[in-house]
Amino acid sequence: METLVTDSPVHAASFVAAGEPVAFPTETVYGLGANAFSKSAVEKIYVAKGRPADNPLIVHVGRRADIDRVGSVNNIWTRRLIDTFFPGPLTIVVERSPEIPRGVTAGLDTVGIRMPDHPIGRAFLLACDIPLAAPSANLSGRPSPTTWTAVYDDLQGRVPCILNGGQSTVGLESTVVDCTGDKPVVLRQGAVSLEAIRKCVPSATLNFAESSDMKSPGLRHRHYAPRAEVILVENVSELALKADTAYIGLDHPRSIDSVATAICPSVESYAFRLFDFFRHCERTGIETIVCQLPPSEGIGAALRDRLTRAAEASAQPRV
Ligand code: TXA
Ligand code: MG
Repeated sequence: METLVTDSPVHAASFVAAGEPVAFPTETVYGLGANAFSKSAVEKIYVAKGRPADNPLIVHVGRRADIDRVGSVNNIWTRRLIDTFFPGPLTIVVERSPEIPRGVTAGLDTVGIRMPDHPIGRAFLLACDIPLAAPSANLSGRPSPTTWTAVYDDLQGRVPCILNGGQSTVGLESTVVDCTGDKPVVLRQGAVSLEAIRKCVPSATLNFAESSDMKSPGLRHRHYAPRAEVILVENVSELALKADTAYIGLDHPRSIDSVATAICPSVESYAFRLFDFFRHCERTGIETIVCQLPPSEGIGAALRDRLTRAAEASAQPRV
């Protein structure tokens, strides 16, 4: 299969109309979207990514009016979350509409819904004129792509079209919030922090029992495991890094002699650069990546979560 790269949302939407999956930009990471009402189109996403079928997809909408076609919003505080954070990097999990095939939600009666805040991604969703089921547009087990070239590296020859929308400005995946109970429960941390959600709905909590909890099936799956060993540090002022070791963080280590270094001026910039940096390190064959743990305020909590998962996965033996 030839993979076309285009700047035209309308051209990209013509592939969706033909029942094909298309990689498209969002502010968090690139997604791989297909008609959320079509079982056969959605199956192509799982095939292209090599994704396990028990990991549900998020359905993306271009306008608030489309939410009701995908799921039921049954309480006032979910409505408040939508009013406050849509469009933006927040996914709500609500009761699934019968119109959405079970293949989208891996058999669950709930569905994740998100309205991305990206001018080209939005134009594309509106041109499609249907909600799109979309996971991140990486091969399963790889870091989420934040540029079209990262998508191309993973999915070239596996998808017919990639819509170019520049580099994703957030760089980490959306915050996923379960809205099916009596209060919001954050299943996956992201750019919308727990503090921000609590300002809107004070009873919101974080789901701690992630690994055993069936509510967030994606978290059971093995996460991105860098080929390199990932080492986490809080304080780098005494650290001296060798040439074969990459470094990413907020502060300058005592000395660096590395081919790959990213000193980030803010936590937001660190989140923006992280996945791209991991891919860069893979391309250059680096075997050790030292990452500074950021403070856990704001997007820092999500960044710590991704860094911890990457470090845990990199420490596991390969199968
Ligand atoms: O920012 C994002 O969320 C990106 C962009 C493309 O929107 N998408 C993304 O999708 O990261 P994916 O498939 O890589 O991650 C979706 C996460 C998984 O952890 C999955 O388990 C969870 O959302 N999820 C989706 N539907 C769910 C549901 N009905 N109940 C619980 N968790 C759900
Ligand atoms: Mg993903």
